[in-house]
Amino acid sequence: IDPSLDLVKEIERLKKEKNAVILAHYYQESEIQDIADYIGDSLGLSQQAAKTDADVIVFAGVHFMAETAKILSPSKKVLLPDLKAGCSLSDSCPPHLFAKFKEKYPDHLVITYVNCTAELKALSDIVCTSSNAVQIVESLPEDQKIIFGPDRNLGDYVKKKTGRDLVLWNGACMVHEIFSQEKIDALRAEYPNAKFIAHPECEEHILAQADYIGSTSGMLKFTIEDPTDTFIVATESGILHQMQKASPSKTFIPAPPNNLCACNDCPHMKLNTLEKLYNCLFYEQPEITLPEDIIIRAQKPIERMLDISA
Ligand code: 13P
Ligand code: SF4
Repeated sequence: IDPSLDLVKEIERLKKEKNAVILAHYYQESEIQDIADYIGDSLGLSQQAAKTDADVIVFAGVHFMAETAKILSPSKKVLLPDLKAGCSLSDSCPPHLFAKFKEKYPDHLVITYVNCTAELKALSDIVCTSSNAVQIVESLPEDQKIIFGPDRNLGDYVKKKTGRDLVLWNGACMVHEIFSQEKIDALRAEYPNAKFIAHPECEEHILAQADYIGSTSGMLKFTIEDPTDTFIVATESGILHQMQKASPSKTFIPAPPNNLCACNDCPHMKLNTLEKLYNCLFYEQPEITLPEDIIIRAQKPIERMLDISA
């Protein structure tokens, strides 16, 4: 890339020229969030992907998110700035092993968290996100047997909230399992008036101390509406950009990770850069493609989720 190029201006120009839309997750770099047409959590992003009239969707997020956009808008070109932007949680549930696991529970309905491959969605009855998982489980009859995967922490949280006995797949997100209980305790002692907010992908002992638990957009909303002026935030640190923008006078402190990690960044989310975003719009590459039968089979469980959450 020519270093004299004004990337922001060029991206805006290409967006218009190609009738493209940029959808970004809250965990993206601040400069990507600032240029996006829509920033949101996984539910909001899939709702946008389903209704956009753009010809091209540039998904500033990770692979499973771009796949979901492709499933919902198969006739559109869906681009992901870096194809290597995967997800440890999605990787923790290989579809062939999940298919075997599912065989053990033939009378169970399968709910999968959206953080999984398109192939896994195709094996599911309903998809959910962190903002509607409780609502989706509660929408089913009390005696309905359910398998929930791939995130065991979100699964445990949903079990607690709904009182249902879910069969859980044992998967997790690398970013949400790094928080140090000891360091959070020390920080709370230092800021006794701060509220501690956490994403439900965090481990049970971390969630047990939280003043608020919710998806990224839920957490953001909580920091806007709650009068507290200091928040300790247990999730990927990208979300702090919107929190700080929405409440400039408030203080946001990322929850401290254990000594093995330097920060709460998701290495997959952070593979996307403004340069890669520009290149991907310019060359219309890398493009997300999926086999037609997977698109058809994965559409139903996602649409069922969107209907329940409408
Ligand atoms: P939400 O933004 O839907 O809460 O998802 C968090 C996440 O881990 C996405 O990878
Ligand atoms: Fe996956 Fe966790 Fe990164 Fe989200 S934050 S993309 S769940 S590894």
